[in-house]
Amino acid sequence: MAAEKVAFITGGNKGLGLETARQLGKLGITVVIGSRDPEKGAAAAQKLKSEGIHAEAIRLDVTKPADYKAVYDYLDKHYGRLDILVNNAGVSRENFFEGNKTSTTSAEVLHDTFDTNFFAVIQLTQTLLPLIRKSPAGRIVNLSSILGSLTLHATPGSPIYDAKAFAYDASKAALNSFTVHLAHELKDTKIKVNSAHPGWVKTDMGTDAAPMEIPDGAKTSVRLATLPDDGPTGGYFHMDQALPW
Ligand SMILES: NC(=O)c1ccc[n+]([C@@H]2O[C@H](COP(=O)([O-])OP(=O)(O)OC[C@H]3O[C@@H](n4cnc5c(N)ncnc54)[C@H](OP(=O)(O)O)[C@@H]3O)[C@@H](O)[C@H]2O)c1
Repeated sequence: MAAEKVAFITGGNKGLGLETARQLGKLGITVVIGSRDPEKGAAAAQKLKSEGIHAEAIRLDVTKPADYKAVYDYLDKHYGRLDILVNNAGVSRENFFEGNKTSTTSAEVLHDTFDTNFFAVIQLTQTLLPLIRKSPAGRIVNLSSILGSLTLHATPGSPIYDAKAFAYDASKAALNSFTVHLAHELKDTKIKVNSAHPGWVKTDMGTDAAPMEIPDGAKTSVRLATLPDDGPTGGYFHMDQALPW
């Protein structure tokens, strides 16, 4: 059984997921990347290995619950536990620059967005939780967004007041609810569950218009993945700053 920590990062083949894997790997943590395209996952793991990181890749389309058991079996067989789960994979089906289209957001866009950003996170986390319970210090990081903040959306003049993409925003607000509920259920265990807002980051999702570079964008996830035993649980953070729900 490996003594070092092992982390599993969904959507780890690019963007914030890949950089989170890199930064965790540089801390000496073994990183297992989930990627829906096995070739992209293998290429990402190879890149990390060339940087001296213990990285592996496994196929996972988070919208395919049939894949979850294979992830469980892989982690169980190789490590017997899971120390860190970063629920990073996410989609945005809306154009963030088009303005508020809530009244015409289609059921298809809502379902697709919730399937990846909400339902998949819950089902995957539930599947892997028995392995996380075996960790001496389990950490679950849910990649939310400041756009999941109902308080800021409802406050005229807030930085996101006019940035309304209904399906995405609602999926992240629902994800935040999962964070709060799961953290409460696990409050007497060693597992911490938190929501991360990475910042607005230059990834394929964030676009080149974003002000933050990817290495900075991964910092919140890494911080929450490596919280000390007296760190927070059931919170919603950007860097060290708590965000309003
Ligand atoms: N960038 C920002 O400014 C920003 C701000 C707030 C929150 N976030 C959140 O941060 C997380 C990472 O976003 P990012 O900016 O790194 O976006 P990104 O560059 O578009 O990467 C998204 C990742 O999710 C994966 N993914 C999407 N659907 C998947 C599925 N069904 N199964 C498995 N993997 C899937 C993608 O895989 P493929 O390569 O196969 O598509 C990719 O690896 C997301 O949850 C996002 O909502 C980002």
